[in-house]
Amino acid sequence: MARIWILGGGLVGCGWAAAFAGGGHQVVVIDPAPELATRLARVWAEGQQALAQLGRLVPAPQAPVPVVSAADAGPAPDLVQEALPEQLALKVPALAALEPHLRPDTVIASSSSGLDPAQIAAALQRPERLVIGHPCTPPYLMPVVEICGAAGTEPAALDEAEALYKSLGKTVLRLNRPIAGHLVNRLQAALWREAVHLAAEGVASLGDIELAVNEGLAPRWCFVGPTGVFHLAGAEGGLQRCLDALGPEFERWWDELGTPRLDPWTRQILVQGMAAHDPRPVAQIAQDRDQRLSRLLTYLQANTVSAPDAPEHPR
Ligand SMILES: NC(=O)c1ccc[n+]([C@@H]2O[C@H](COP(=O)([O-])OP(=O)(O)OC[C@H]3O[C@@H](n4cnc5c(N)ncnc54)[C@H](O)[C@@H]3O)[C@@H](O)[C@H]2O)c1
Repeated sequence: MARIWILGGGLVGCGWAAAFAGGGHQVVVIDPAPELATRLARVWAEGQQALAQLGRLVPAPQAPVPVVSAADAGPAPDLVQEALPEQLALKVPALAALEPHLRPDTVIASSSSGLDPAQIAAALQRPERLVIGHPCTPPYLMPVVEICGAAGTEPAALDEAEALYKSLGKTVLRLNRPIAGHLVNRLQAALWREAVHLAAEGVASLGDIELAVNEGLAPRWCFVGPTGVFHLAGAEGGLQRCLDALGPEFERWWDELGTPRLDPWTRQILVQGMAAHDPRPVAQIAQDRDQRLSRLLTYLQANTVSAPDAPEHPR
């Protein structure tokens, strides 16, 4: 059992707390916000339910404990999972103030979606212990965690973070160098750019663009990635045949993809289109997503390919 401190108990911090506590670790969440205890209790309840369904809830887990400051957090942790707002001006001084409460070998993992790890670690005495540990939300449910370090990061810090995430059953993707958005969000940003372009150009309703992904792309993507799709599209000739046949055509499409801006007019189209497509309150959409997602992930977990020549990570 590791000791984990979560710095910042918002959407991501509370989700991380549920993931670590449900995986059998001792968790303290540090955040002076008055609503922390209520939010953490709610996310912990939702997280336990989801983890139990996935078969990933340890027997008799210890609930994560909310505290106002590091001085109240008890013995120094093995890992700090930083989940402060995405602002260098906030993360840098907060981590520098936290460091005296840590051990020299504590790993500091930042949840940052796009900041440079070298800059996040700039004011630390031991910048070599800082890594990026970026979850998909909700962190107790989604399998992927992306990790990477700066040029000066100790490989051991990355190894220790990876081992802890794997203890939660996570699929850890290790980037060779930092890049804004890591893998998942960069890919998401590329697709969203075109979705915004199509909506802004009035090519289809925002609802139909959403469905093109929900029902046209997403089901296959559980099993084959964006290149794997085209490996299969090449039939018996695989990816090579597909590249020969469709490569020039795809290059023509790439040249035509949109480069929209999120100006007031485009924002209005998106917000109105979203309201028309799904008028439910956000909390209800999120609850519905999480319930269905945990059923889907349970299915995927139980149905990994087990043929002798199957790859190690078939999903
Ligand atoms: N929202 C997402 O979907 C998502 C997904 C993956 C990663 N991330 C990353 O996770 C991080 C957190 O994002 P979020 O959406 O949870 O933000 P959030 O605004 O919901 O939560 C941030 C929390 O930090 C607290 N906080 C602020 N200053 C503090 C301090 N000095 N000490 C302790 N707590 C403090 C706030 O009270 C708040 O509860 C960001 O770096 C973001 O890029 C976000």
